[in-house]
Amino acid sequence: MKILIAYYSKTGSTEKVAKKIKQEFEEKGHKVELVKIVPVQELKAYQYKKNGKELALKNATGSVKKFDLVLIGTPVWNFCPAPMVLSYLRNLLNVKDKKFALFATCTALPGTTIQRMSSILSTKGGKVTASITVRSIFSLDAKKLEVAKKFAEQLS
Ligand SMILES: Cc1cc2nc3c(=O)[nH]c(=O)nc-3n(C[C@H](O)[C@H](O)[C@H](O)COP(=O)(O)O)c2cc1C
Repeated sequence: MKILIAYYSKTGSTEKVAKKIKQEFEEKGHKVELVKIVPVQELKAYQYKKNGKELALKNATGSVKKFDLVLIGTPVWNFCPAPMVLSYLRNLLNVKDKKFALFATCTALPGTTIQRMSSILSTKGGKVTASITVRSIFSLDAKKLEVAKKFAEQLS
């Protein structure tokens, strides 16, 4: 399969999960493109509008046409996806009938993060088939990352 993994990460946890998933897919022989979502303006977390509207991204208008599976990852910010990810999802092209899987990282309370991402994609005709939330109050150790490995195995 041709797989896209797009994620935002401020302090590195979501990135670790994204890279672990990538590694696992590649070991199974899939082709993976890893895209880090980057806002045009780097601000403090609280300075971004929570709904991500009008939030400009450096890589905003991604088409997912050429991929068989698309994974989107986000940190949880105030029980919701990071605004950059909301902006990315809203701008995503060729979503109709595409297969998606979602992942989120948080300390403990994910709130409505996965539901919100899922709802944007379903409205655009995308099919969300699986999701994981990796909770880590302290740090993301090897054991926690096993969840990411299993997730990729399940999707392969
Ligand atoms: C602005 C902000 C809001 C956050 N809100 C939540 C939250 O609602 N629930 C939670 O469990 N963790 C919350 N966290 C913790 C992050 O979700 C967690 O540390 C995440 O793994 C960070 O991902 P990253 O390292 O990829 O940026 C928040 C962190 C930040 C910076």
